[in-house]
Amino acid sequence: MKARVRIDRDYRIGEVDRRLFGSFIEHLGRAVYGGIYEPGHPFAEGRGFRRDVLDLVRELKVPVVRYPGGNFVSSFDWEDSVGPVESRPRRLDLAWRTTEPNTFGLNEFMAWAKEAGTEVMMAVNLGTRGIDAARNLVEYCNHPGGTRWSDLRRSHGVADPHGIRLWCLGNEMDGPWQVGQKSAAEYGILARETAKAMRLVDPGLELVACGSSFQGMPTFPAWEATVLDLCYETVDYLSLHSYYGNRSDNIGEFLGASVGMDSFIKSVVATCDHVKAAKRSKKSMMLSFDEWNVWFHTDSEDRHRDPWTVAPSLLEDVYTFEDALVVGCLIIALLKNADRVKIACLAQLVNVIAPIMTETGAAAWRQTIFYPFLHASLYGRGVSLDLRVESGSYASAKYGEIPWLEAAAVFSGSGTAAAVADGAADLPGGELTIFAVNRSPTEAMDLEASIGGYGPLRVLESIEYAHPDLKAVNTAANPDRVIPRHVGGTGGGAAGYGAVGSGGARVEGKRLSVRLSPLSWNVIRLQTAKDVRTGGDTL
Ligand code: AHR
Repeated sequence: MKARVRIDRDYRIGEVDRRLFGSFIEHLGRAVYGGIYEPGHPFAEGRGFRRDVLDLVRELKVPVVRYPGGNFVSSFDWEDSVGPVESRPRRLDLAWRTTEPNTFGLNEFMAWAKEAGTEVMMAVNLGTRGIDAARNLVEYCNHPGGTRWSDLRRSHGVADPHGIRLWCLGNEMDGPWQVGQKSAAEYGILARETAKAMRLVDPGLELVACGSSFQGMPTFPAWEATVLDLCYETVDYLSLHSYYGNRSDNIGEFLGASVGMDSFIKSVVATCDHVKAAKRSKKSMMLSFDEWNVWFHTDSEDRHRDPWTVAPSLLEDVYTFEDALVVGCLIIALLKNADRVKIACLAQLVNVIAPIMTETGAAAWRQTIFYPFLHASLYGRGVSLDLRVESGSYASAKYGEIPWLEAAAVFSGSGTAAAVADGAADLPGGELTIFAVNRSPTEAMDLEASIGGYGPLRVLESIEYAHPDLKAVNTAANPDRVIPRHVGGTGGGAAGYGAVGSGGARVEGKRLSVRLSPLSWNVIRLQTAKDVRTGGDTL
């Protein structure tokens, strides 16, 4: 099978916001207790943070982590989670019907995030609570001192304000499962008034309003239209959530998930732009895809848990290789919409539908989905390019025509925000990375790419992620069963990867050719010669 791609420096989608590679920690199952926090574990440091988990979070370079929920936040009293641990109450968590001990709370999470090198995206409870609790929480977190809530923080041993910029105005408020579900009109007004009060405390906040819980909600996209009609000028982002599963065991349909994600994003963009036009607004609403992943393996077992236990195993999907391919396709869909999707959170980060798993007594390990997320986070920062792709396609019942090839490309080099942020602004040339999934279960794909505007190219590295068994998983006992391989290039292989192979991508002038194995995720990193500021060749 053949596929052709045209890439050109002048065809740009937009700058990839670093927060596109965010994730999520909810007080749910073993995400916190037994996940990021496990006092007494051999790998725990003095505060109880698991160092092995921190190492893997840092490896993923997660720029932002959403906290503390999720459904959990809609009946959470934040005041229970601060102050001396011995006086914090144990509470019923109504979202997951567990007991929340509150031994790990807000200030512990902020300290953990600092260790992990990540920003925090904080959610406020707009289910059982509202404006008052939200504005007090902002005062507790961000006001320097001299007032009731900021002085309470100081009395808890946190002298400097946390300075949290990014906030979610509730979670999935359209969902019947949500404690304190609202109609769109009720929520739109509450979001607007809560945003107003929070900004009066701290004008520097960036605020995310809740979109629909998923595209299949009967009220989608009327919910978005009504909510935005009420709070358009007051919020900065609208949220999207979506989970995908292979319930009918049909790999072709499952791999179409990114086509579904792309159409979901485009529908939300259209709705936002309709409201913008109706309001004669100058502002374009940006999107926060703050929950996305594969989630279906544990659907039935999670329905039969005993209630009110502390940190039970919940939503502990063990991911197969085919799940990793879908996660790769979904990341490509996010990159292709980088002009409007500025924040995205892989839900979640540890133990709960997560790339990182722990077991008491053993070292944390990487699930199959860890790798495509890692590659995108490491090499997907820069300018997302608008590819012209020609590949055949196949028909799917759910998503219509699905191209055999799913691909995106990101240029990161001198002059791009990513390079400036990495302190690499003065590097000659830059790096062009192509992410590609061959969806064919039977045929290898000969991909030819013509790449304009970057001068001579050199293959730094070709990575292939493929496996003969689509259902293969990693486990604590066999954590490296499914891992990517370096298949070529001059860049060498990173530790923990499969053996360096031969082959991979080749370039001649501006032409790249590479053979993509059936059902594979591929990362092709090219060094570009041209310095985009001066136009001078540097190779
Ligand atoms: O991520 C798991 C749950 O999925 C979140 O708590 C909720 O927001 C969504 O329904």
